Amino acid sequence: MSLRDRWVQERKNERYYKLAKKEGYRSRASYKLLQIDERFNIFKEGDFVADLGAFPGGWLQVAKEKVGETGKVIGLDLRRIKPMEGVETIVGDITEDSTMLELLSLVGGKVDVVISDMAPNIAGHYSTDHARSVHLALYAVNVCDRILRKGGRLVMKVFMGDMFGTVLKEVEDRFSTVRVHTPAATRDTSSEVYVICKGFYANKDVELVEPKPETEEREFSVKGNFI
Ligand SMILES: C[S@@+](CC[C@H](N)C(=O)[O-])C[C@H]1O[C@@H](n2cnc3c(N)ncnc32)[C@H](O)[C@@H]1O
Repeated sequence: MSLRDRWVQERKNERYYKLAKKEGYRSRASYKLLQIDERFNIFKEGDFVADLGAFPGGWLQVAKEKVGETGKVIGLDLRRIKPMEGVETIVGDITEDSTMLELLSLVGGKVDVVISDMAPNIAGHYSTDHARSVHLALYAVNVCDRILRKGGRLVMKVFMGDMFGTVLKEVEDRFSTVRVHTPAATRDTSSEVYVICKGFYANKDVELVEPKPETEEREFSVKGNFI
């Protein structure tokens, strides 16, 4: 990256960082979701939303604003989320059965929207980070199979790479429309993209590619019923 490009990038990051401080958002990531919603109309008043990888809560704030008093928002993360009015949270690892069960029990039925900004700890090794991100994205799809209502929507982050097609196939099997988008608030240096899916075919008989442990970067086997 040239010095000028770096300067432009830093100004952009600083802009969203300052804006988040000024407008009371917990993270600059809020602007990514606001921009996605503006373009793709994700939220409706009264929606029930599940947010995966929700710490510190920037997306939760946006979701809560959008669904209003009549809506409901649940956030889940490895890290404890500071309490937020009108939002329930779970601390746990989505790849663990106990966390998935806690989520199922708290939701107690179906949600209208699943959003996932989950990201692995960055190792700095491109294919490892990509494989870990794909692993988390497949868990987000698994959450949809369990709690998303028919016609529901999914927004999830994935780091681009050679296994992106695996994720795309899983969502294309389940949703009537799928778009891949990078909001303006994403850093230019980031490999992240957001997959925006609408029109969930609930109970469609599709088999999810099972996410393997993070260390196994490339081998995915097919199995239908992991939790
Ligand atoms: C980019 S941050 C999310 C920022 C958030 N959307 C916001 O607006 O404040 C990604 C989050 O994913 C969480 N995460 C990563 N792996 C996870 C897992 N296995 N289960 C639950 N959360 C996970 C991380 O703890 C981290 O807080």
